[in-house]
Amino acid sequence: MRTRWDDVLGALQVRTPDRSMDIMLNTWLLYQVLSCHLWARSAFYQAGGAYGFRDQLQDLIALTVARRELSREHLLRAAAQQFPEGDVQHWWHPPSGRGVRTRISDDRLWLPYAVQRYLDVTADSAVLDETVPFIDGPELADGQMDAYFQPERSTESASLFEHCARAIERSLAVGIHGLPLIGSGDWNDGMNRVGHEGRGESVWLGWFLHTVLAAFAPIAEERGERRRAESWRAHMKSLRRSLERHGWDGDWYRRAFFDDGTPLGSALNAECRIDSIAQSWSVLSGAANPPHARRAMAAVEEYLIHRGDGLVLLFTPPFDSSDVDPGYIKGYLPGVRENGGQYTHGAIWSIIAFAALGEGDKAGELFSILNPINDASTRAGVHRYKVEPYVMPADVYAKPPHVGRGGWTWYTGSAGWMYQAGVESILGFRLRGTALVLEPCIPRAWPGYELDFRYHSARYEIVVENPQGVSRGVASAELDGRMLEGEGAAIPLVDDGATHRVRVVLG
Ligand code: GLC
Repeated sequence: MRTRWDDVLGALQVRTPDRSMDIMLNTWLLYQVLSCHLWARSAFYQAGGAYGFRDQLQDLIALTVARRELSREHLLRAAAQQFPEGDVQHWWHPPSGRGVRTRISDDRLWLPYAVQRYLDVTADSAVLDETVPFIDGPELADGQMDAYFQPERSTESASLFEHCARAIERSLAVGIHGLPLIGSGDWNDGMNRVGHEGRGESVWLGWFLHTVLAAFAPIAEERGERRRAESWRAHMKSLRRSLERHGWDGDWYRRAFFDDGTPLGSALNAECRIDSIAQSWSVLSGAANPPHARRAMAAVEEYLIHRGDGLVLLFTPPFDSSDVDPGYIKGYLPGVRENGGQYTHGAIWSIIAFAALGEGDKAGELFSILNPINDASTRAGVHRYKVEPYVMPADVYAKPPHVGRGGWTWYTGSAGWMYQAGVESILGFRLRGTALVLEPCIPRAWPGYELDFRYHSARYEIVVENPQGVSRGVASAELDGRMLEGEGAAIPLVDDGATHRVRVVLG
């Protein structure tokens, strides 16, 4: 047992100036992802056992470096819960496969997103040719929001690529603002009545779909699917236009439009005036007008980062007494869970966005705000926070009398994203097939850090030095005493049983 965990966690170990970051990255985050969110799919707060279509696909992104076979296996497992029409089960219970068909709009797109993230790390493009069967079942009737049933195994099968392409093609319909239809929710499950009549649109989903299209158009092209590649590129272009024309609110991006065309996440709203994920994904997608994206993240900092309380909110103000009806999210008390609390999963995307903008100080600061160890590092903190300080919380309450109190722990997708934020965005560790690309974005005050990475039978001991106190930019890189040519640090990896030394100097 112990050796098995040592093996998983030993793939990558880090030593940074932030001890609380090391403890989470070296042990607890991957332990939480694997043992609770991927394997048990259950915890004290929700004894579920089901796979959530989008949930474990996000987890596997964090696991690919340490356990690529688990990632591959789950990609194929998830693809097998798709209907030939391209939509998927929102969740299902193994082994029967009984689950729920819905009008939630983002679930299916996490399949191509996760496939692309897996390909980035492994370069295992053979996975796209794996044959996977579909499931069959009745389509939802007009006005029906969901149906729980046991689907049949379809006689139709297709390549994993084709599964991804159908997920994309099912997502190309737009509403009157040219934005994707939100259906009965997009990532935020509680916003199930923004577009349930079939006309509401989502700005966040526009960024997410753009991200997926940008990744898959070249893949389609390589596979000789020119028509698809062209139409996806054309769709990206029109999405970008609509996102700027109708998504931009003046100081940040809106979150969505209701069925009747009213905006949500706009300065015009009394509640949910600004939503974090529409800003962070404007950066993550790389599709936004750059000055707008920077301004949007400045608005996140101004309205959603509450340094005094140590909270990073999902949106503000929470839904409470206004007459808008976004869905069951309004059933949570203001400041609890998705209703304007610190919904950690979504908050982490702002760390990743700040790092992508080169703001290493902010990325590092947010990482420490969201790090549960710091919530309980004082006696007062323990009394306020109340839950396990070594486990990512799904949420932290944001309104009196419970400001700073931890909500659900363990069973949350925030652990996987926190791992990604630390390892990839801040420490800049990007495994890319047979190369390791180091693109750090660290707090300027860090003098440096170290990484120990196991690549099959070889070990790489990496030292990053920061003599000039910068956040990013690689001045030079050495492998076993030899200078590496070219921009940045792309370290060629070999599976030779040896220990290699890498020295990277920032500046
Ligand atoms: C929960 C769900 C996840 C959803 C999130 C936001 O964590 O498991 O699928 O995206 O809440 O509503």
